Amino acid sequence: MLEGAVAFVTGAGSGIGRGVALCLASHGAAVIVSDVSAEISDAAAADIKAAGGRGFAVAHDVTQWEKAAAALAHGARLAGGPIDILVNCAGLYFSAPFHELLPEAHERLYAVNVSGVFAMCQAAIPDMKVRRHGKIVNIASVSGKDPFARSASYGSSKSAVIGMTKSLAKELGPYNINVNSVCPGLVYTKMQEDQCRRIADETGRQPEDVWRQRLAAVPLGRGQEPSDIGEAVAFLASDRARNITGQSLNVCGGQQMMD
Ligand SMILES: NC(=O)c1ccc[n+]([C@@H]2O[C@H](COP(=O)([O-])OP(=O)(O)OC[C@H]3O[C@@H](n4cnc5c(N)ncnc54)[C@H](O)[C@@H]3O)[C@@H](O)[C@H]2O)c1
Repeated sequence: MLEGAVAFVTGAGSGIGRGVALCLASHGAAVIVSDVSAEISDAAAADIKAAGGRGFAVAHDVTQWEKAAAALAHGARLAGGPIDILVNCAGLYFSAPFHELLPEAHERLYAVNVSGVFAMCQAAIPDMKVRRHGKIVNIASVSGKDPFARSASYGSSKSAVIGMTKSLAKELGPYNINVNSVCPGLVYTKMQEDQCRRIADETGRQPEDVWRQRLAAVPLGRGQEPSDIGEAVAFLASDRARNITGQSLNVCGGQQMMD
């Protein structure tokens, strides 16, 4: 489905990003895996190679807006071609009652979840416009549509990503660039593990019970795997989805049924 394409995935060192990178590679794309440290980026690229795919590592912190273009150019050189697909997956989460929200934590989260996406898109778009070809997929969240309590920073950061997806889709449609979001529900990654452990500590329960209770709200009764998110991204990044733009696709087992 993605043979000949070059994809750049941020936050690809672990969790959903790693699953997305592996999935895009399994569909034939050359994938540049990018994360904050060289060590985890290298390990994810090695996973892709071990599975028979083409993986390349670029260490990049998405909060460094001024270095975004250089990271993409470096990735394109390694992969031997320009970036066709940009997947913005790097993200942070924290939960706190609103009145206890610390400005530094809020600003750090926005720097990664919002400005990091803006920076990577701004750096990738000029070349896509010249080539009149490109796919951008942003990993938002169902909580960007219906935010949870005690998650004003996170939920609103994902609402910003969904809004930015729509604005860019309108602006870039005339250049044949598709911009969409994927909204996961519950994927058991380090992010979820930390959350379940924190709630368990606060409520005197076991983290496994917290996770089971969360899944009880999901009609399909199970969490998603990183590969489930990867398959949705692969579809949106392919020409099979050439007439889909500005959309935010829930991949959440039916947990969220609003637009
Ligand atoms: N896990 C879920 O249930 C869930 C649900 C909805 C949305 N999401 C979103 O999916 C994305 C991935 O989440 P995850 O669960 O895999 O989390 P994770 O913590 O397992 O992975 C996040 C990755 O982002 C990287 N990262 C963090 N800051 C970065 C920065 N400044 N520059 C580059 N990389 C950075 C981390 O190093 C890590 O590898 C996030 O955007 C998250 O908000 C996750």
